[in-house]
Amino acid sequence: MLTRRGFGGIGLATLAGRMLPEVAYAQRAAVHGTLPNDMVWLNANENPDGPPASSIAAMTNVLPESWRYHYQEFGAFYAALAHGEDLAPEQILVGSGSSEILHAAVEAFSSATRPLITVAPTYEGPVDVAAASGHTVVRIPLEPPYVPDLRKLVAEAEKAGGGLIYLCNPNNPTSTVVPKKDLAWMISNLPPNTVVLIDEAYIHFGDTPELASALGYVRQGKNVVVTRTFSKIYGMAGLRAGFGCAPPQLIAKMAPFRNNVISIVTVRAVLAAIAEGNPLVQQRRTRLIRTRRELLNWLREREITFIEPQANFLMIDVRRDAREFIFNMPPKGVAVGRPFPPMDNFLRVTIGTDRDMARFREVFWSLYRA
Ligand SMILES: Cc1ncc(COP(=O)(O)O)c(C=O)c1O
Repeated sequence: MLTRRGFGGIGLATLAGRMLPEVAYAQRAAVHGTLPNDMVWLNANENPDGPPASSIAAMTNVLPESWRYHYQEFGAFYAALAHGEDLAPEQILVGSGSSEILHAAVEAFSSATRPLITVAPTYEGPVDVAAASGHTVVRIPLEPPYVPDLRKLVAEAEKAGGGLIYLCNPNNPTSTVVPKKDLAWMISNLPPNTVVLIDEAYIHFGDTPELASALGYVRQGKNVVVTRTFSKIYGMAGLRAGFGCAPPQLIAKMAPFRNNVISIVTVRAVLAAIAEGNPLVQQRRTRLIRTRRELLNWLREREITFIEPQANFLMIDVRRDAREFIFNMPPKGVAVGRPFPPMDNFLRVTIGTDRDMARFREVFWSLYRA
């Protein structure tokens, strides 16, 4: 039976209109009221690996110094981030999560006459900010196999005389990717006054050769903004750090729409994590891909269909209204993703630890076969 127990998080969900981290949207996943102490959180695409030990040590060390703003350290911070991506510091903009940069890009590059053009469903953040600011939004439905038709997006920009094309790669919630050759075609066929915003929050989790970062286009000076976050592979969602990468003239247009700087505690955590370099990312990625593969095999054995995932979450076709799972799993100790209309029969599930996924399988199966 479909229960609407605890769907009272509407206050926070409404807030999401102007303040868009996943945390606000996660409230739509019906995880309220009295919940088990050992709740398994598979509703917000977080990473239970958490911050590396070196980041925790760096944060602990800086806490007594947190009475100061530490502004003089931000130059070196930007330089370290830029160096990690083979960019110059003036091609970087740091935000309180990548959410702040997405917000700034929407404000800077779309308007009532220059639409935000995207696919549906995708991550709601930029769409909600654009709508709340009175900007025009054009959404092209994503259909199986959930690969966007970039020609349609470019055609919309052409029609409007420019706009902001937002793509999430891999896409949230479908966990599918934009093939790199399609991306290359789009960048070389951009109409005038058009900026492309590529949200690469989940790029580290992909394992298909079809997936490529758009950072190369930033280095070439194209009209491209790429956002990255420390919330996902680095396991620091609660620390609120992300950044945008773009040619300096685009960074300059976005910068006035930022609200503030991130805390020195977060800066030190990020610096320590970057210093760990590629081995940290590879080790987390390998573990995630293994856990993901095990879940996919389990689903296949039961002939449960899903969209082949390229991120740290997947969409499972539950062959009935997914809200039945969304509302009934949390009281049994497992929080799962919110609804993503019109994909009403799909349940978005984050890949957690092996133990989390064992619990997921148990609770999911008890409801699925009922
Ligand atoms: C696609 C996508 N972009 C951006 C964000 C925002 O992340 P943050 O602000 O934590 O960097 C999320 C959050 O889950 C997301 O799914």
